[in-house]
Amino acid sequence: MGEKILVLDAGTTSTRAMVFSRDGRMVGVAQAELTQHYPKPGWVEHDAAEIWDKTLACMREAVGEAAGDIAAIGITNQRETVVAWDRDTGEPHTRAIVWQDRRTADFCAQLKEAGHEAEVQKRTGLLLDPYFSGTKMRWMLDNDDAVRAASENDTLAFGTVESWLVFKLSGGCHVSDASNASRTLLLALDGEQFDAELCDLFGVPKPALPEVVDTHGQLATCTAEWLGRDIPICGLVGDQQSATIGQGCLSFGETKATYGTGAFVLTNKGHDIPRSDNRLLGTVLHQSGGNRTYAIEGACFVAGSLVQYLRDQLGLIGSASETEELARSIEDSGEVVIVPALAGLGAPHWKPDARGVISGLSFASGRAQIARAALEAMAHQTHDLASAFAADGAAWTSLRIDGGMSANDWMAQDLANILDLEVERPDFVETTALGAAICASVGAGLYENLEDAAKAMRGGARCFTPSMSDDVRKDRLARYARALSVA
Ligand code: G3P
Repeated sequence: MGEKILVLDAGTTSTRAMVFSRDGRMVGVAQAELTQHYPKPGWVEHDAAEIWDKTLACMREAVGEAAGDIAAIGITNQRETVVAWDRDTGEPHTRAIVWQDRRTADFCAQLKEAGHEAEVQKRTGLLLDPYFSGTKMRWMLDNDDAVRAASENDTLAFGTVESWLVFKLSGGCHVSDASNASRTLLLALDGEQFDAELCDLFGVPKPALPEVVDTHGQLATCTAEWLGRDIPICGLVGDQQSATIGQGCLSFGETKATYGTGAFVLTNKGHDIPRSDNRLLGTVLHQSGGNRTYAIEGACFVAGSLVQYLRDQLGLIGSASETEELARSIEDSGEVVIVPALAGLGAPHWKPDARGVISGLSFASGRAQIARAALEAMAHQTHDLASAFAADGAAWTSLRIDGGMSANDWMAQDLANILDLEVERPDFVETTALGAAICASVGAGLYENLEDAAKAMRGGARCFTPSMSDDVRKDRLARYARALSVA
């Protein structure tokens, strides 16, 4: 048997397949962009068939003729996004509703008004926000005839993206791992399977939901139809939990921040169920043999997607990497501040109706000031999270960063400056995929545990040390707070 791990990283904007060697080197990769559908303001959809077709094409390309070298498959994915498909035909009933989608804001508000938030938070670690999967499932049942009919005929399958991919790869196994299941509002943090009472509250039929399984172990089998031989699926883990593992945050208190489409900070909280008084989330980090390790999470919905917006919608930059040069070309942003609430505000504010703000414009404000303000917004959002984590008694002592945007040296330094904290960036920033490779290699028995695998598979890192005066930092934070108050 080979010792390589095939990772499928089904993200929000692209899907990828990567092959890792036992020592964590990436030896093969293929990637395809995903079509984003925006049918109405605040709505974001994906075509689940496209996710499957492109993931399959990528995995075949990345593996080539070397399927015999693959010991196991690990899958990591955009979380919360809901797919509805037919168990008999394996075809999606409707477009997937993406995590960024805000269409269930009214339903969430009704549940809040009815006084359900405290209990939901206590049981699931989550809040009543359209971000999470449960209300999206309910919306499909209420608004899509095919989904409703399938539910009545008992052929409906709901799942998040890892669940959808496993169903396709295995020819009908319907599972979801605990890290993804903990983002649905339907799993109690201390419950083994989806919770009947929570399903009733959100109006989601339990028979349509998958079985909840570990994040690593022998979880399912990818049938010979796809790569020429049966290959075990040994890792399933939501992308932010995966990045936390890939960053080696395996001990209590260790923290990572990923700057991808959104920005997500997770702190390892060990075996005790995390509780937040400051509107952070409690979530499953990983699970083995039914034993859970938890994390506390701060989720900001917009990070790299802000730079994409400057490029694609406003045409201010030609490529994302230009922002670094533009930011360096000026002393400061000239009082321009951006609040990136383009998809509402996530943690710790949770305002689904908030919208983006660009403030402080003058005739001196050009592309450079706006690009710099966009990068500065990352540090400002992260600082808001840092305050909430500290208030919850989980202050960060250092921060490990990753994700596409973290490759921007100017932004990494600005983060260290604004947080007044040492920021560490691994040389290999694909930590999301690495985390799934670590899970799958442990699940396949190549390593004894996550710690051993992380030790063997992770590489070096670069450190950014704070170098900003207190006055400048205070000034920046005060200006951001003013802009935030009108978002
Ligand atoms: O919760 C949403 C998250 O999983 C999406 O991650 O990598 O697309 O920013 P990303």
